[in-house]
This record gives sequence, structure tokens and C-alpha cells, in this order.
Amino acid sequence: MVKNIAVIRGDGIGPEIVNEALKVLDRVAELYGHTFRYTDVDMGGCAIDKYGDPLPESELKKCVESDSVLLGAVGGSKWNDLPGSMRPEKGLLRLRAGMGVYSNNRPAKIWPQLSDASPLKKSIVEQGIDFIIVRELIGGIYFGEHKTEGDTAIDVLKYNENEIERIGRIGFETAQKRNKRLCSVEKSNVLDSSRLWKKVMHRLAGEYPDVELSDMLVDNCAMQIVKNPAQFDVIVTENMFGDILSDEASMITGSIGMIPSSSLGASSCGLYEPIHGSAPDIAGQDKANPIGTILSAAMMLRFSFDMRAEADAVENAVSAYLDAGWRTADIMSEGGKLVGCRRCGELIIENIKRGRE
Ligand code: IPM
Ligand code: MG
Repeated sequence: MVKNIAVIRGDGIGPEIVNEALKVLDRVAELYGHTFRYTDVDMGGCAIDKYGDPLPESELKKCVESDSVLLGAVGGSKWNDLPGSMRPEKGLLRLRAGMGVYSNNRPAKIWPQLSDASPLKKSIVEQGIDFIIVRELIGGIYFGEHKTEGDTAIDVLKYNENEIERIGRIGFETAQKRNKRLCSVEKSNVLDSSRLWKKVMHRLAGEYPDVELSDMLVDNCAMQIVKNPAQFDVIVTENMFGDILSDEASMITGSIGMIPSSSLGASSCGLYEPIHGSAPDIAGQDKANPIGTILSAAMMLRFSFDMRAEADAVENAVSAYLDAGWRTADIMSEGGKLVGCRRCGELIIENIKRGRE
């Protein structure tokens, strides 16, 4: 197959981690006879420096016209003092909205090889951590009106039933493919938007009788994720709650550097990115963990290109790399063999094998 992939390296460690993921994709292409064509897209701080705009229309167009987008990370202190509408993150938000990718899928799964890296007690980790956060990605407070007037700042949180319904359906469908338990997370004891959220989820539940729906307030959920993560199968939640809970969920699996994500809308053209940021403090030092990006590329193969054997081959290669004891600094523990970003990529590539299909 021939696929056109828009590649956003971004800022900070973005270029380093994306390089390793592209090498992995090249190896997959070679082994399985595919052609991946890459188109570079400028977004974030680097685009502000070049064009004075975090995502010019021409760059967004390249993404929308691609078969999928692979993104490293954007942002950094250099651009922190710019007004909100000009910040690197605004490029990412415009990209998500411009691509219409309303459904963000963030797995929190502990690799058995990394159980020591989790900050949770062994007795909790042993019960298993394997759940998915389905986060609404193009609505809510991120996309409401933002304004500052004198000493007052306003951010509007707004959802309509359609926006809730389409992400709710993804939550139910994701649960149907797993252990059939869906936890809808909101703040219905305080927010109108959450009361609407809860109402729509319960209306939808009638259409998915095989899925067990539960409700949880977001503050309680934050606590339950560290107290008893094994209780969760699929969590569905609004944009900002999902942002916060997914960082928390990633950390209990050992490192935020390991977690990929997919964002999809109505078409198969998706946006794939690790959930961590641009880590300017370690940028350019060959210290970053590229696995979150490599696994995001694997998700692209699986969800947008329907290349399941290829995605399995990449995930198995990551597992074999961890089995062999290699560790980047973020997941280093006693007995591990320390490697940098480039070497990590090389070792994973060496482990990619074409298995039986
Ligand atoms: C994420 C990030 C972004 C978000 C930022 C960079 C805008 O934290 O993908 O989780 O808040 O969505
Ligand atoms: Mg975040």
C-alpha cells in the first residue's frame, strides 16, 4: 500500500522522537512492501518563528489532505509570553479542530517489564492496570470563548448534545471491544455541562445493553485511578478532565514517555501523537524516550491503515526491547541498561520481524 503521512516534528524533543518513529515506519515498509511518503509540516513554536503563526492554513491543508498525521510535540518556554491565540499549543488545537478529530484514545497499560517503574505500591500494580481513556478532543472549555477584561478572565465551557453523543458512542463501542465496562466521568454535582453529559450517556446506554455503564465524579476518579486502577476498563470524559486524568493514568504505568494516542473523527485520517510534551529541558541531548511516538505510529498502522500485522510487529519489537533490559533514563531502574533516544530506536528496529499473518 502507498500512504501519505504528514509529519510534524514540532519543538523540543519532537524532532528526535519523530526521527526514530519514521525509521520504524521505514523498516515496516521495507518488510511488508509498503510505501510511506512523508510530507513535513511546520507547527508550534518553529512555525511561529518561521511564519509568525503556530499553524498557517497551508500547513493545516497538508494534514487534512494526508492519509494520517504523525506528531512529536510542540511548545517551550521561548514562546510562553505570547498571547494565547499565538502560542504553539494553539497550533495543536487548531489542527485537532481542523481535522475534526473529536475522539482521543489514550491507553493506560502497564508493561509487565516496567512494573517496578510504577510509583504505586506493588500490591496495587499486581492487580493489573489496563484501561483506556476516551477523551472528547474538540469541544468544551478548550474551544469556548477565552477573554481577559481588566482584572477578570473568562473561559467558556460549553457542550451540546450532539458533541456528547458522538464521543459517548465511541466510549460504548470501545467498551464493546474490551471488557464491556464504561465509566462516564463528569462533575454533575456542580456543572450544567456535566449534567447534560450524564443525561446523554444514560440515554445512549439503552442502545448498548451489553455494556455496563457507571458514573463517577472527576475528583473521585482522580483518586480511584491511584487507589484501585484495576476497576477501570474504559473511561469516557470531556476534554479538560481527559487531559488531566490521562497524565495521571500514564504516570501510574511507569512513564508518560511510553504512552501513545490516536485521535479520530469521521474519516480514517487520524492524528497520532505521544501524550507527553516537548520536554525542552532534555531537548537535543539524545535522552528522550521515543517509545510513545513509536507506539503512536503503530496505532496509525492499526487504526488508519488497517495494517494489523504491521502494528503487532512494532508492538512486539518494543516488548522485546524491554525484555532485553534496555531503558531510556525516564524508565531506568536497577539492573536496566541505559540507552539514549537514537539507540532505543535502533534496538527496536532490529527487533521488528515479519511474523505470520
Ligand atoms: C495534551 C496536551 C495538550 C492538551 C496541550 C499541549 C494543548 O497537554 O495533548 O494532553 O492540553 O490537550
Ligand atoms: Mg495533556
